[in-house]
Amino acid sequence: MASTAPDYALLARQLDALLDSDDWLVNTAQACAFIMQQVAELNWVGFYLQRQPELLTLGPFQGKSACNPIPFSKGVCGAAARSRQTQRVDDVHAIADHIACDAASNSELVVPVMREGTLWGVLDLDSPRHARFSEEDQAGIERLVAVFLERTTLPDLLAAP
Ligand code: SME
Repeated sequence: MASTAPDYALLARQLDALLDSDDWLVNTAQACAFIMQQVAELNWVGFYLQRQPELLTLGPFQGKSACNPIPFSKGVCGAAARSRQTQRVDDVHAIADHIACDAASNSELVVPVMREGTLWGVLDLDSPRHARFSEEDQAGIERLVAVFLERTTLPDLLAAP
């Protein structure tokens, strides 16, 4: 059964108000907690960060403990990192190299997070429902990532010691 998408315009305004610190660690933690609370039928929401070249390292998240690290060459998150394009997967079990962190996950949405033309990380959403994410959800979550980027000064994690 299809569920109605939340009011993403309202969520964008609420997230904008919530992210008031310009501290990237606070804002990544707040953003994934907010999405987990406000978007129905999710079992995992979180950031993977590019802290080494071609590798995604687990960042702030909500849900069960997760796989770490993820190379750019693997999984749905890796595909988003390589292509810098949002990945919307109706059935993760149909993806040969899908990385199953939580067996409850059946569909997935991964949005790249860019900093000055370089991939900074990805925001990953998992759902126990097949085909949970519509085009409207994709546009809505991309809008929330845009709000996060407007409100947050991202450090160059690749340059950090
Ligand atoms: N399923 C993802 C891995 C991350 S977890 O879902 C939290 C993937 O295939 O990239």
